[in-house]
Amino acid sequence: MENLIKRTAAIIKGYPPVVALTGSGISAESGIATFRGKGGIWSTYNPEEYATIDAFMQNPARVWKMLKELAHITMEAQPNPAHTALAELEAMGHLSAVITQNIDSLHQRAGSKQVIELHGNNRWLICLKCSKRHRVSQSLIEEIPPLCQCGGILRPEVVFFHESLPHDAYQQAVEKSQQCGCMLVIGSSVQIFPASLMPILARQHDAIIIEINPEESHLTSEVSDIFIEGKAGDILPRIVEEIKRLSP
Ligand code: OAD
Repeated sequence: MENLIKRTAAIIKGYPPVVALTGSGISAESGIATFRGKGGIWSTYNPEEYATIDAFMQNPARVWKMLKELAHITMEAQPNPAHTALAELEAMGHLSAVITQNIDSLHQRAGSKQVIELHGNNRWLICLKCSKRHRVSQSLIEEIPPLCQCGGILRPEVVFFHESLPHDAYQQAVEKSQQCGCMLVIGSSVQIFPASLMPILARQHDAIIIEINPEESHLTSEVSDIFIEGKAGDILPRIVEEIKRLSP
C-alpha cells in the first residue's frame, strides 16, 4: 500500500494535468449512502419509480418524498478528508478539475474551485412552468411538491434517468478527460454512461488511470493502471502528504 501511495504521488507530480472523476463513494464517509449494493439508495427506492424523468412528471409528490429525504441528508453532511485532500491538491497546483457525478456540493464546500457537475446539483430548483430558478432552502421544500410563486411545480436541478447531461458540463468533462495526463477515479462503480466514458477517453489519450475504491470495478483489470484498495478518506490525505514530502 505504501508503495502504491508513493507511486501515485510521483505520477500526480509527473503527469499534469491531473483530473479526478468522483462518485458517491467519496461522500460515503460524510454519511451519504452510495447508490448500489447493500444499503444503497437504489435498494430502498426503485430507480424506475423514483429516478426517471417520466416518474417525476407522472407523480412529482412521490419522487419529492425521496428528494426531500436526500436533500436533508446532503444539506447536513460535511466534507470529509477525501474532499479536503482534493481541494488541497488543486490549491497546490496538482489538480486541474474534479469531474463529479455527485450532486451534494461537498467538493465546493471543501474548497475545490474547478468542479464539473455531470449530474446537476442540490443547490437549485427550477419551475416547470416559468423556468425561474430558486435557491434550495429547508423552508422551500417543507411542503412537497414545492411550488413556484406562479403555481408551477419545482423540480431539482439534477439529472434524472433518461435525461441528457448539462451540455457545458459534459463538454468540459470530455475535454478534461482527453487532455489529462492522469485521471484519479474515486468512489464510483463507473456504471453510468456517459460518466463511465471519461476514464476510457482519458486512457485512449494515454493518461494514467488510478482507481481508489474499497472494491474493484469493471475498470480495474482492463483500464486502470493502479488500483488502490481502500476508503477515499484514508488514501487521499496520505497521497497529499507524500506529495508535500516530495516537494517541501
Ligand atoms: P455506486 O453506488 O454505483 O458506487 C459507489 C462506489 O463507491 C462503489 O464502487 C463503492 O465500492 C465505492 N465506495 C464506497 N465507500 C467508499 C469510500 N469510503 N471510499 C471510496 N469509495 C467508496 O455510485 P456511483 O458510481 O456514484 O446517477 O453512481 C453513479 C450514478 O448512478 C450516480 O450519480 C447516480 C446513480 O444512479 C443518477 O442518479 C443520474
